[in-house]
Amino acid sequence: MKIYPIEEWQIRETEFDVETNYRDETIFATGNGYIGMRGTLEEGYSGPPETTFNATYLNGFYEEYDIEYPEDGYGFARKGQAMLNVADAKTIKLTIDGEEFDLLKGKVHFYERILDLKKGILQRKIVWESPAGKKVEAEIKRIVSFPRPHVAALAVTIKPLNFEGELNFTSRIDGQVSNLTESKDMRVGAGLKGRGLITVDKEIEGTAAWIKQKTLRSGFSLVCALEHSLTPASGVKVSGCLDEDAVVIKFKLKASKGVPYTLFKYISYFTSRDYEEKDLVNLALREVEKAKEDSFQVLEKEQEKFLASFWEDADIKIEGDPAAQQGIRFCLFSLLQSTGRDGKTNIAAKGLTGEGYGGHYFWDSDIYILPFFLFTRPEIAKALLLHRYSLLDAARSRAKELGHKGALYPWRTIDGPECSAYFPAGTAQYHINADIIYALKRYVEVTGDVDFLWSYGAEMVFETARFWVDLGSYIPSKGNKFCFNCVTGPDEYKALVDNNAYTNYMAKMNLEYAVVVAEKMKRERPADYARVAGKINLKEGEIEEWRRAAAHVYLPYSRKMKIIPQDDSFLYKKRIPADQIPREQFPLLLHWHYLNIYRYQICKQPDVLLLLFLLREKFTLEDVKRNYDYYEPITTHDSSLSPPIFSILAWEIGYEEKAYNYFLHAARMDLDDYHGNTKDGIHAASMGGAWSAAVYGFGGMRLYSNGLHFSPIIPNRWKRLAFAIKYHGRKVKVTIERKVAHYTLVEGEALKIHHFGEEVLLKPGTTISKKVPPRRGAKFNLLSKGA
Ligand code: BGC
Repeated sequence: MKIYPIEEWQIRETEFDVETNYRDETIFATGNGYIGMRGTLEEGYSGPPETTFNATYLNGFYEEYDIEYPEDGYGFARKGQAMLNVADAKTIKLTIDGEEFDLLKGKVHFYERILDLKKGILQRKIVWESPAGKKVEAEIKRIVSFPRPHVAALAVTIKPLNFEGELNFTSRIDGQVSNLTESKDMRVGAGLKGRGLITVDKEIEGTAAWIKQKTLRSGFSLVCALEHSLTPASGVKVSGCLDEDAVVIKFKLKASKGVPYTLFKYISYFTSRDYEEKDLVNLALREVEKAKEDSFQVLEKEQEKFLASFWEDADIKIEGDPAAQQGIRFCLFSLLQSTGRDGKTNIAAKGLTGEGYGGHYFWDSDIYILPFFLFTRPEIAKALLLHRYSLLDAARSRAKELGHKGALYPWRTIDGPECSAYFPAGTAQYHINADIIYALKRYVEVTGDVDFLWSYGAEMVFETARFWVDLGSYIPSKGNKFCFNCVTGPDEYKALVDNNAYTNYMAKMNLEYAVVVAEKMKRERPADYARVAGKINLKEGEIEEWRRAAAHVYLPYSRKMKIIPQDDSFLYKKRIPADQIPREQFPLLLHWHYLNIYRYQICKQPDVLLLLFLLREKFTLEDVKRNYDYYEPITTHDSSLSPPIFSILAWEIGYEEKAYNYFLHAARMDLDDYHGNTKDGIHAASMGGAWSAAVYGFGGMRLYSNGLHFSPIIPNRWKRLAFAIKYHGRKVKVTIERKVAHYTLVEGEALKIHHFGEEVLLKPGTTISKKVPPRRGAKFNLLSKGA
């Protein structure tokens, strides 16, 4: 039994349940990449406080706090940042002839809540009878506007069914909000103590109001403003009052039986992170006035139009498998809802939907989420990279603080500083540097936007290369190879190891790319090169050092076992197959001491396997299979970042059932609440991974040095898989059936691609259909090394 009915374009619930309310608030969260609102109820909630968390977040709006260490150490991260729960504007309390509208009181005759993925609207329909027998039909709509990043709007309609009487709508902005500071799960809750925001000013004027809040330490301000209208307007009495920490506007009317009364509430948020503090009130008021003038219906239309264009580029159609279809669409929609598009923000691990991981940005963005945007909405990928560029100064300072040259990006952050208090699985994940450069390199390869490289990227590439050269050493007992010791790879169940294979390979890629970029830049853009070199004081000799280090990076390999050891000591540890661990001990990080986790061959997530996927061109199919067979049994998948990568590789080596199951797991991670913690927010990386599993896995897409390759094969239970990708100004639609694949060049000039290794020329506006060979064991033989 699925939690929500399987429907291809919507998420629906048909019953309101206190037990699952906390989780449902995440699933029914709405956002636009800037504002994120949890799916709490407009009318308020009288259930137990531990079954709800009412929050609104603004991407990148945070408060700082001191990280405290009873046992301190040099260079430990000092300042944490937490995405703030800001003034709540979602609330509209209702009284129905003197009785409070409350789903937990009276009787609910009909209940339905729908998140419509095409319309971008959250909607509830309820027939409710008050304890005294007054029956109403209620319809409540919520939009967080995609085209207007600062705007959200509510429409609350009440129709008396069996009475005439007084209706009261009490609309509020509530400044008394705070983040979750305590949880049994260390992955949840901000390090903030007490409230992050205080209310400094507020005002009501007619049906409009605003409230201004300030953070105590980070020095930011925000203004939240409201406007309202009520239809039918005749006989409505409006009154306002300023509470200590809130603004309240009441609408009172005599309601007739059978007549629907709708209160429209327009909400805006502006902060001093984007605008001058003195302008915030005016900006916020102007925005809600404009929304009111345009009307809710216009916002609805705009929203649908925006989404029609998004789905045109981004949709993945899966015919013959509605559960997978619903799952993948929910993933893509959720990513859009939570990803910053302004170059100043990114996507937090839990998006804008919950308190998990403090609203921090991790490598999840660069490795797991960016590819989806890169191939569907490259301008968003660019905005994400611009945000990384904006953190470069902080990354330089962090490298310096740790005694290194160049730049070291933080493992987790909002605005630049390292916010991870646990350095073994934080700062030591140096691979973050290479992950960002990998994303940048891909961006340039897929879009051809070399200007971005000259203007921003090159500086990032050079500074990270500098860092790697400084971090590593030529080690005599390793044949004078260039080694990176005391690092942590992606698998957080091993820490502070020598020569983590993922890190070494990715650092090598970073160094090689730096050499390529420097040489190309000198040749093709000497003025730009001189500018960047001048700015960072780059010496000619440094490029030689990068070249030399890259050529000598130690690449772990066990000749005996013909696998890549995860790190130097990995194979010397005792192996614990994950299926021998009692189920109730997962995730291990909540039940085992790290020392015990580190002591064994047991992995949280793919490390070597992720490397094989990312740098696929460097390895053979046999490498993939042997390493997969070695690492899969000892992987717990305690991280949601795990299943999509396993799906991609399993499909490639012919483990069809496993690949399908891993895919479904990733695509429906939150809808089915596999990890039992969806309440704390969506698993954004898994959602991005699900896109990769569909396109790179079943779609068989690979980007190699000679262009785009497809070796698509779809699961037997699917009838058709269709998606579109953008590449160098082209848009290619790929439709895969069981025996044939169709490639259509929808936009742009002719393009050469490869279908199972065979060159195919796509011409504008035409479709080329190619046979899909029957699966014989593994499928990518044609794409193995040397293809
Ligand atoms: C994973 C990390 C990931 C983080 C945030 C952890 O559980 O191990 O790889 O970056 O979650 O999603």
